[in-house]
Amino acid sequence: ESGYVTLDSGYKNTGATTSAITFLDGEEGILSYRGYPIEELAEKSSFIEVSYLLIYGALPTTEELAAFSNRIKRHTLVNEDMRKILDGFPSAAHPMGILSALVSSLTAFYPESLKSNQTKDEMDLSIIRLMAKLSTIAAWSYKNSVGHRVNYPKNSLDYCSNFLHMMFSYQTEDYEVNPVVVDALNKLLILHADHEQNCSTSTVRLVGSAHASLYSSVSAGISALWGPLHGGANQAVIEMLEQIKADGGDSQKFIAKAKDKNDPFRLMGFGHRVYKNFDPRAKIIKKTADDVLSALGIKDPILNIAKELEQAALTDSYFIERKLYPNVDFYSGIIYRALGIPTEMFTVMFALGRLPGWIAQWKEMREQKEPIGRPRQIYVGENTRTYVPIEER
Ligand code: SDX
Repeated sequence: ESGYVTLDSGYKNTGATTSAITFLDGEEGILSYRGYPIEELAEKSSFIEVSYLLIYGALPTTEELAAFSNRIKRHTLVNEDMRKILDGFPSAAHPMGILSALVSSLTAFYPESLKSNQTKDEMDLSIIRLMAKLSTIAAWSYKNSVGHRVNYPKNSLDYCSNFLHMMFSYQTEDYEVNPVVVDALNKLLILHADHEQNCSTSTVRLVGSAHASLYSSVSAGISALWGPLHGGANQAVIEMLEQIKADGGDSQKFIAKAKDKNDPFRLMGFGHRVYKNFDPRAKIIKKTADDVLSALGIKDPILNIAKELEQAALTDSYFIERKLYPNVDFYSGIIYRALGIPTEMFTVMFALGRLPGWIAQWKEMREQKEPIGRPRQIYVGENTRTYVPIEER
């Protein structure tokens, strides 16, 4: 046991674990899941297939994918008591708060998930249940925020179509599946599926290292993702772009604000702890935004503001010196908007996409029997002093 501690706030240069799941190279802008480049997966795979790849480590055969997909479909229903918990939330509740609470409540419906030494089958069932139920819980949290009746999942639909149905069907009319929307949603979920030891994934691993259940660990990850510096950025980007549009569309004015150290304003969707080059996901999402908006015949003025802002920042020395480029959150909100998904649901979409990554990392951490996470500190507080009775203070 060495007596000294190296301080590394934010763990900027600390490797917390070994992992075989995701590889990313910040300098080269490379990202791959189990060795497969995300560019290929985004183009050729589906979110459920990529979820299988991340969680089980290999691309599934036709039979394996069918079995995985069908098992998920048969677990999309949630216990009716969950509606009572949902009804307890005011409609103004942010869906991320509902998501974190309802995921944690799964431990009440499936107490065997609390077992510290689950068998492989028990762990698999916990994984299938969470993969299946998060999309239902996510759609229900949206319906709660707009005061509409929830929709039940339909096993005849694929994962993305089912989610869109639960989000956008009404008593008055069923959602009509639009293949352009389904394809865009698959791509977005694939691109968010894992990202090695980011803040929320490290949270899932740390909570899980105490042998807390998968549901409690993912509930904690959802809370971390909600932060505006992390997954909450996709909502903050749209709010920023709307603010720039309302303010007359002057990108330079907001670039100046972002550079001003006395101004807390940051260019949301810009910068990254690891990528010191273009975020490879942002490249694909930017192209997908153009494709989706033209396929849906949508002209969204804030897409132009986003592009102007990007151009202005990429030619400004402040951003160039600090290697601040658009990240995954910069363009994703523009696509979600085009798909009809409301702003306060953007981070929920990030959570839906990141779920297989959180699960894969939690499973790897437990299978590797990692020790409980417990970092040290450098104490900078008071020296020893004696207690002073209150009448003498
Ligand atoms: C995600 O880790 C992951 O992989 C996360 C993620 C994932 O898939 O899980 O990729 C998802 O969270 C993407 C990031 C989304 N967040 C945002 O877009 C919020 C805006 N970005 C920043 O807050 C920031 O860039 C972070 C949080 C992303 C990274 O923060 P770091 O690595 O701690 O960098 P920093 O805050 O120390 O910034 C370094 C310098 C500072 O200036 P100086 O003190 O050197 O003068 O760059 C400046 C910062 O002020 N800076 C920005 C800026 N981002 C950094 N200045 C203006 N606008 C910005 N967006």
